[in-house]
Amino acid sequence: MTSIGIHDLEVATAHHVLDLGLLAESKGIDPAKYRVGLGQDEMSMPAPDEDIVTMGASAAWEILRRHGTDGIRTLLFATESGLDQSKAAGVWVHELLGLPSQVRVVEVKQACYSATAAIQAAMGIVSRFPEERVLIIASDVARYELDSPGEPTQGAGAVAMLIGADPAILEIEPPSGIHTADVDDFWRPNDSSTAVVDGALSVRAYLDAMTGSWDDLAGRGGPAIGDIDRVVYHQPFTKMARKAQQRLDRHAGGSLGTLGLDSGSVYNRRLGNTYTASLYSSLASLLDHEEEDLTGKRLGLFSYGSGCVSELITGIVRPGYADADRSARVRAALDTRVPLDVPSYRSLHALEHSSVNDLETSHVTRAPFRFSGVRGRARQYERTDGAARLP
Ligand code: CAA
Repeated sequence: MTSIGIHDLEVATAHHVLDLGLLAESKGIDPAKYRVGLGQDEMSMPAPDEDIVTMGASAAWEILRRHGTDGIRTLLFATESGLDQSKAAGVWVHELLGLPSQVRVVEVKQACYSATAAIQAAMGIVSRFPEERVLIIASDVARYELDSPGEPTQGAGAVAMLIGADPAILEIEPPSGIHTADVDDFWRPNDSSTAVVDGALSVRAYLDAMTGSWDDLAGRGGPAIGDIDRVVYHQPFTKMARKAQQRLDRHAGGSLGTLGLDSGSVYNRRLGNTYTASLYSSLASLLDHEEEDLTGKRLGLFSYGSGCVSELITGIVRPGYADADRSARVRAALDTRVPLDVPSYRSLHALEHSSVNDLETSHVTRAPFRFSGVRGRARQYERTDGAARLP
């Protein structure tokens, strides 16, 4: 059988950053609650001319710069911060990247889970047409109400992935474990720009979905827990991965302990929650920071989307997976974000672009693509000087 999986992946984020120490101080909260209790240090925040399209296009642009567009006939855009009820955000990305018209574009949604559904769809396409490659973009802006318990778990970021045969990074194994249940733990109604959440229920629902996914994987002939070397998790905040690994060890009789938790959360501690992109930025973080050579090791990837749908997949790391350039790029993107003080963060949070009146955004971002405004109720995007012509 053809081996299929993740051939490349790239992380992008937003222009601004808020240090959670400042946020804690402004509320008279011990900063250790955020840094230790939640395991978060910073959160990314988009400039007024950035959104899920500009972050997603920036991540995908880097992938196409390395691999070109040959064989790509599908772009799947996973997000839970959709910009339009009808148009897929990926169609704007298609235009910004200059992709051929023979590329179908679809948006997929189920809270933070949908990038994993996109991977499963991509694997189906590649098994039918092994010469094709599928571009997946997971991009989100996590927004909660100011002064709510969820506020320190906001963030913004995107991961682009290329799925193909004979992958260079991770060969995904066929069995996976699925768990779906109708739970009101976290959602975002159409008339709200921030999520509604029952925090305690969401943590319980996540952990229950994980054990449910494990049981399904085990029942479908998945690997024994002792044959899994590291697990990466969806990370609404990085402490959640610790809770999940503890529960997994207890439930499945494993001894993973704290293996892979620090290396798999270096990016997430600084990005904040990136919803659909969170699991895959954790994967990038593990690949870029784990000291032990991961070649040939089996990874588990636990994907959770509130509401809720979850899936546990496994994959084998391929030789030559390491990419020192990617880790340098991600570190530079994180280090060069422009810091916000708390009043500027709060006014940026309050900024909402309506589609009713035409508008032109001020030019702030240094990314290769920007949201330039609204004309005739339609969102407008443009390349900036940073975007070189694609091959
Ligand atoms: N020093 C060190 N630790 C401290 C501390 C201090 N001074 N003060 C508190 N803590 C610890 C607490 O003991 C607690 O640790 P444990 O969870 O290990 O017990 C931790 O900090 C958090 O404290 P609280 O439980 O009091 O925090 P809270 O009630 O203010 O909110 C939250 C926590 C519910 C996660 C909230 O941030 C929230 O609602 N977040 C959004 C929802 C979310 O992320 N849910 C996760 C699962 S759902 C999902 O995964 C989908 C998704 O992306 C949203």
